[in-house]
Amino acid sequence: MTPRLRYDTTAKVFHWLIVALLLMQYAIGWLMPDIHRGMTPGAGMIFHISFGITILVIIVLRLVWRLTHPVAPESTLPPWQRLSSGLVHWTLYILVLATTLTGWLFASFRGWSISFFYLFPLPMLASDNAAASKAIDGLHQVAEWTLLVFVGVHVLAAFAHAVVYRDRVMQRMLPG
Ligand code: HEM
Ligand code: HEM
Repeated sequence: MTPRLRYDTTAKVFHWLIVALLLMQYAIGWLMPDIHRGMTPGAGMIFHISFGITILVIIVLRLVWRLTHPVAPESTLPPWQRLSSGLVHWTLYILVLATTLTGWLFASFRGWSISFFYLFPLPMLASDNAAASKAIDGLHQVAEWTLLVFVGVHVLAAFAHAVVYRDRVMQRMLPG
């Protein structure tokens, strides 16, 4: 498949939708009440899990779109920047998948039944398992923090291109 030179509208919509959903997801994650033994998930947790599953579905669709609509790196980039940006982008896809899947596993091992935005019951990946739930809780936090670090590197790089290098990299992901 010949790579295109620009991101199409679908790729841009997926990109900014994930950015908006992640902002919301971190805010809910940190603001919702801490969990404790035997608790029933409240509205904060129901929204966190529902948005999380939405992010998982969108990142899978986005990944399929990316694989079927490859985009070449900006032609003016030196080889080290092509390589490092490619590595960071693929790591971001993997980390979003890891964060959502560890969260879903954690909720499943707690034995919760959760509805998707109060509309219909969400399928769970496993049954009640206290030891597994404790182990996977740590992994969800590692994944969420590692994702945040890579997002930080990615955003700094994007702004470095816009402000320091003043090339067209930032433009590639903006509307138009
Ligand atoms: C990329 C998507 C996600 C992000 C960025 C994210 C982020 C977070 C954050 C920031 C917290 C608070 C943890 C802390 O206090 O350090 C949290 C907790 C939690 N998340 Fe997520 N989450 C995501 C997806 C999911 C999904 C899909 C589920 C379940 C289906 C989920 C289930 C949970 C649960 C059960 C907790 C409470 C347990 C804990 O404190 O670790 N998360 N998440
Ligand atoms: C203010 C926040 C952000 C800005 C300004 C930004 C900017 C950009 C730009 C300019 C590109 C194109 C880079 C290129 O063509 O080489 C890009 C690509 C990308 N961004 Fe972001 N981004 C932001 C947030 C995020 C977040 C939160 C994620 C988390 C998943 C993310 C994931 C990606 C991925 C995976 C690509 C590569 C797309 C592909 O080739 O499939 N970005 N971003």
